[in-house]
Amino acid sequence: MRSYDIALIPGDGIGKEVVEAAMPVLRKAAGQNGFTLKETVYPWSCNGYLETGRMMPEDGVEQLRRHDSILLGAVGWPDRVPDSVSLHGLLLPIRKAFDLYVNMRPHRLLPGVTGPLRATDFDILCIRENTEGEYSGAGGRVHVGTPAEVAVETSIFTRRGVERVLRYGFEQARRRRGKLASVTKSNAQKHSMVFWDEVTEALSAEYPDVEVTRYHVDAIAARMITHPGSLDVVVASNLFGDILTDIGAAIQGGLGFAASANVNPSGGVPSMFEPVHGSAPDIAGRGLSNPIATIWSGALMFEHLGEAAAAKAIMAAVETVAGAPERLTPDCGGSANTQEVAEAIASELQGCQGTRAGPSVHA
Ligand code: NAI
Ligand code: MG
Repeated sequence: MRSYDIALIPGDGIGKEVVEAAMPVLRKAAGQNGFTLKETVYPWSCNGYLETGRMMPEDGVEQLRRHDSILLGAVGWPDRVPDSVSLHGLLLPIRKAFDLYVNMRPHRLLPGVTGPLRATDFDILCIRENTEGEYSGAGGRVHVGTPAEVAVETSIFTRRGVERVLRYGFEQARRRRGKLASVTKSNAQKHSMVFWDEVTEALSAEYPDVEVTRYHVDAIAARMITHPGSLDVVVASNLFGDILTDIGAAIQGGLGFAASANVNPSGGVPSMFEPVHGSAPDIAGRGLSNPIATIWSGALMFEHLGEAAAAKAIMAAVETVAGAPERLTPDCGGSANTQEVAEAIASELQGCQGTRAGPSVHA
């Protein structure tokens, strides 16, 4: 039987709750589709940091390397550990070490879920560059604390980095509705963003079947609200993608639905799947967290592993439950708790002895 070796990093706050709730759904879908999951739990978290002084052991990345995939809940406990420590001690090193250069986030309204927009018919796949750009970390400060203080943060765009993330976007567009939106601000940022436009232009010659539209980031931010149905695949830099995907989460009904995949498409290293939301200290420990973003992330993980049938089955079960909003958590107007939502989804899973299929439509 096929088996996948999964590293679980539940993390802090609701991260632990949503991973615990999601796993029985993933295990059941695996069993129904002819594969098993070998799970290893890594208790790396802010609690661990307070005990050991590290968010993960020195050889943490090496421990993760042997796994097929990583499923992460959320890390962060801002009252006790600065966010810059928890982020730079765990998430960012993992993304960097495995060169997970694609951060992919699907934004669509599940049937039955009420979003804040009048428009309900949209299906956007945001692809955010995940390793360089505005978040390269290049810069510094001089004359600190004096009136002459200077802070410099330099964006770094490499041909290799821009080309590979755009190419991934073109490939996805080809599998979906054939439309790619390339996001820049090339009117104002005349070096890096003009360069991004040129790389887009050059690549588009290789994908004559994909319709490319260039948007400035402010214009596409508005378009995601006024005409979300006009967008298909959206490719953006690290900063622009970060901001646009928060709009995406909002229009799809909130953070409880926003799933993500951090992928290195060349393989050979584990990719990492996680809900977009954080550890939500305001609701942690009360069963109020919506597990759907994590379950959806699990579906993205299965799809990445080549188990498209299991991914589809999970999304069908999620859609059935989402269609009856009273079965959801209070953030969606329902009255169920975290476990009950996950149990409802598990009970809706339809078994189909699937055959292993290559990646197909995005769950
Ligand atoms: P957050 O995403 O944890 O929470 C924002 C708001 O959304 C809160 O009111 C929360 O209750 C609500 N919310 C989030 N997920 C929900 C869910 N599944 N169901 C229902 N309601 C949900 O963002 P916040 O408060 O800014 O950050 C809290 C901590 O999480 C910080 O330490 C932050 O650094 C960390 N964080 C970690 C991330 C990660 O591990 N990938 C991502 C974002 C934040
Ligand atoms: Mg963000």
